[in-house]
Amino acid sequence: MFDNIASSYDFLNHFFSFGIDHLWRRKVVKLLKPLNPASILDIATGTGDLAIREVKLNPEKIIGIDISKNMLKIGKAKVLAANLDHIISFKQADSAEIPFDESIFDAATVAFGVRNFEDLDKSLAEIFRVLTKNGQLAILEFSMPEKFPFKQLYKFYLTKIIPLVGKVISKDVSAYSYLSVSISAFPSGEKFLDHMKKAGFTKTFQHRLTFGVASVYVGTK
Ligand SMILES: C[S@@+](CC[C@H](N)C(=O)[O-])C[C@H]1O[C@@H](n2cnc3c(N)ncnc32)[C@H](O)[C@@H]1O
Repeated sequence: MFDNIASSYDFLNHFFSFGIDHLWRRKVVKLLKPLNPASILDIATGTGDLAIREVKLNPEKIIGIDISKNMLKIGKAKVLAANLDHIISFKQADSAEIPFDESIFDAATVAFGVRNFEDLDKSLAEIFRVLTKNGQLAILEFSMPEKFPFKQLYKFYLTKIIPLVGKVISKDVSAYSYLSVSISAFPSGEKFLDHMKKAGFTKTFQHRLTFGVASVYVGTK
């Protein structure tokens, strides 16, 4: 699916979130700042927006992995254009079988990716495996606002506006209705933290963004 929509992904991403997704990625980076990570793995990196933002943490290396060749192609071009290829590299790989040795990354991140993982628990266990001791995982994902009127407004936006506009611009009939359905069905809040704990993460917490429309979930190995 992401191979099909890769060329319109960046535009629609910023368009649907009114550009707030940039602020959300910034928050992920801010939360990881005290850790001062030298090596970062960005999983489901897509077109590399979060990996590029993570350069602000001054790490020695950032590796982005994703299963979609077309998303990575766009990411690679962005990294080259920004002269960041000495820090950021990409590899086509699945979150459920991360092709790296254990305990080698100080931080791991996933932005808008966990919702798409075929095997969430196996992927979280794999991320735990490749992190160093005391390494941190930060996950940015849509969540459901719990309070009136944001809950109702957001539901309308998700189920009516996004599928319609997404279909017209990306020319993919199902991709953006999938987005709505998957956001509503995905575990958020405490339920998601339980999955992180099951994989072994401790000191887990949720940081809500923009009335709970998105959240950053953090855990430590
Ligand atoms: C919504 S995009 C997010 C991209 C990027 N992180 C961002 O913030 O814009 C989700 C990405 O997850 C990738 N993906 C889905 N399942 C995956 C998996 N099991 N392993 C690695 N990447 C995966 C897709 O190919 C897609 O590029």
